[in-house]
Amino acid sequence: MDTTATTDFVHIYEPGSDAARSPLLLLHGTGGDERDLLGLGRAVAPGATLLSPRGKVLEGPMPRFFRRLSEGVFDEDDLHRRTHELADFVETARERYGLAQPVALGFSNGANIAASLLLLRPQVLAGAALLRAMSPFAEPPEADLSGKRVLILSGAMDPIVPAADVGRLARTLSDNGASVDHRTLPAGHGLSQADINLLAGWFAA
Ligand code: MLT
Repeated sequence: MDTTATTDFVHIYEPGSDAARSPLLLLHGTGGDERDLLGLGRAVAPGATLLSPRGKVLEGPMPRFFRRLSEGVFDEDDLHRRTHELADFVETARERYGLAQPVALGFSNGANIAASLLLLRPQVLAGAALLRAMSPFAEPPEADLSGKRVLILSGAMDPIVPAADVGRLARTLSDNGASVDHRTLPAGHGLSQADINLLAGWFAA
């Protein structure tokens, strides 16, 4: 495992043992860091290479990937800027580590910036698993997402993500050509065993 800040983002790069697996871009939630999703990544995609940056925006002491004005209300100018900054980091890391196009595995704020990456810089990701995601843009841009697989896992009792909002995200991504599998689980904003089982099946397919 290599923890480094020599490129733009503090990040962990963990080379995998299974070259057939796409690398995973792990994107943590608010208040998390680059270590948060390593265990989840290893559990649901055993042997995959892991690339895990830490969000550069601080909300008090809590790292995030972009600014928000209040819970669920995003600073879209900052979101645009931070999405391109993260996309540039992934491209630099791919060259540096010799990586194939990664699949994002994002939770909450990390899922939201992964959805934004798909829409603003679709060439950066092969696909994405979005856990407790919301629609990042009030007016989503168009993007060519054909050939990209997206799994969205929502919680029926999630107090942060309204069902209509994530439904709009699923529609936006599929209207732009992605192959979207959206499941709603009997869970809240936190992850459950059902999330892990569905993720493992989706990554194995
Ligand atoms: C966000 O700010 O991205 C969402 O409200 C989810 C969160 O991080 O709490």
